[in-house]
Amino acid sequence: ASVELRDLLLSRIRDVPDYPQPGVTFKDITPLLADPVAFNALVDALAGLCRRHAATKVVGLEARGFILAAPAAARAHLGFVPVRKAGKLPGETLGKTYDLEYGTAEIEVQTDAFAPDDRVLVIDDVLATGGTAEAALDLVRRAGATIAGVAVLLELEFLDGRARLAPALGGAPLEAL
Ligand code: PRP
Repeated sequence: ASVELRDLLLSRIRDVPDYPQPGVTFKDITPLLADPVAFNALVDALAGLCRRHAATKVVGLEARGFILAAPAAARAHLGFVPVRKAGKLPGETLGKTYDLEYGTAEIEVQTDAFAPDDRVLVIDDVLATGGTAEAALDLVRRAGATIAGVAVLLELEFLDGRARLAPALGGAPLEAL
């Protein structure tokens, strides 16, 4: 992202100390979503990444990823596919369980979500440990599509999610705006 876009986006993300637990600083993107100029610039930038990486479909990760991925897909004239927390999607699904700091989580995608020639850009708000994005890439691949890349608004570099995600990306780009 340009320095101007980066500064605009960062200026609209609020640090909330000790949320959801003591010692954790939560990155609250609601001021960005509420600002029409910043939100529009973000959606434009994500749509630009769809084009740059020749995506044919956009995946959004529940729930905050949906807020960014769906308008980006529409602006890039691409279809949107939800990756949801387990038990929310009807019909035949593929699932992936992954580790959280405490316990595990499971996400799912519909088996027929992609065509074999689809190139998928996975969009989420935050890359933290990379566990969620890693699981999503596994689902996309098992559902038969190619990975165009992963795009996030914010990368928490100190958690080193980029390194964790590298094998699953298999050379595809990770873009953090
Ligand atoms: C947050 C965030 C990412 C994920 C990043 O989602 O929106 O999806 O965690 O963490 P990771 O890189 O360590 O996997 P959360 O599970 O809080 O769900 P939400 O979007 O429904 O609030």
